[in-house]
Amino acid sequence: MSFERRPLIAGNWKMNGLIGFVDNLACFLVKKLNLENPTHFDLLVCPPSTLLHPIGSLAENSNLLLGGQNCHVAKNGAHTGEISAEMLKELGCSHVILGHSERRTNFYETNELVKAKAESALVENLVAIICVGETEEEHKRGVTSDIVKRQILDSIPDRGNATNIVIAYEPVWAIGTGLTPTTQEVQEVHALIRKTLGDKISIEEADQTRLLYGGSVKPSNAVELMDLADVDGALVGGASLTGVDFWAIAESCPK
Ligand code: 13P
Repeated sequence: MSFERRPLIAGNWKMNGLIGFVDNLACFLVKKLNLENPTHFDLLVCPPSTLLHPIGSLAENSNLLLGGQNCHVAKNGAHTGEISAEMLKELGCSHVILGHSERRTNFYETNELVKAKAESALVENLVAIICVGETEEEHKRGVTSDIVKRQILDSIPDRGNATNIVIAYEPVWAIGTGLTPTTQEVQEVHALIRKTLGDKISIEEADQTRLLYGGSVKPSNAVELMDLADVDGALVGGASLTGVDFWAIAESCPK
């Protein structure tokens, strides 16, 4: 891993967490960061929208980063049930996850929509964490490279760069299943993502852009994944809901 690319460990809580998570999970993470002041990773939590405000207040003077799980293209307006990038920013978010496979599948989000959302995030100076990854069927057909390449080329905003975007490679079949690609497969896809990004933005920016792996990351497999040359962190689902596990994953980043 490049020295300049400090790993980002991001927790995607998905639709999990009632108010008690603020005192339990978020408080635990803030205390750990204050106590240990780690410099070998950045820690981000992306809770449901209902918890953004209390966690934003709790984390205000700490190194715990806060992110949303989605945003609308528009700044405001008649979009019942939606949240805008500007609203996320006001609540203290620095990041937003976009194009997660659950949104691509359940809410029919296309590459073009993900790109438009990312552009609106960039306007608010949020870092867009753009998710890509193949389905099980695509994996079996051996078309992972084509799928991921297309997603990168079509979902990344034209003014994306190393400071305003992060890419998360999440094979859909690895999410919540306990299955993971081999470390060789992960490295190959990440190298392809970096090369594709280089063609799209610039080699220099691509070289500095953080590429996260997501899909059944846990303390027991984090060390080997975080050790890969083109893996610069993780997007963690299930294991991010347990403080000690999430912290152990973060601690797996090379020093
Ligand atoms: P799991 O870590 O539960 O497999 O979820 C991964 C994910 O979807 C993170 O965005």
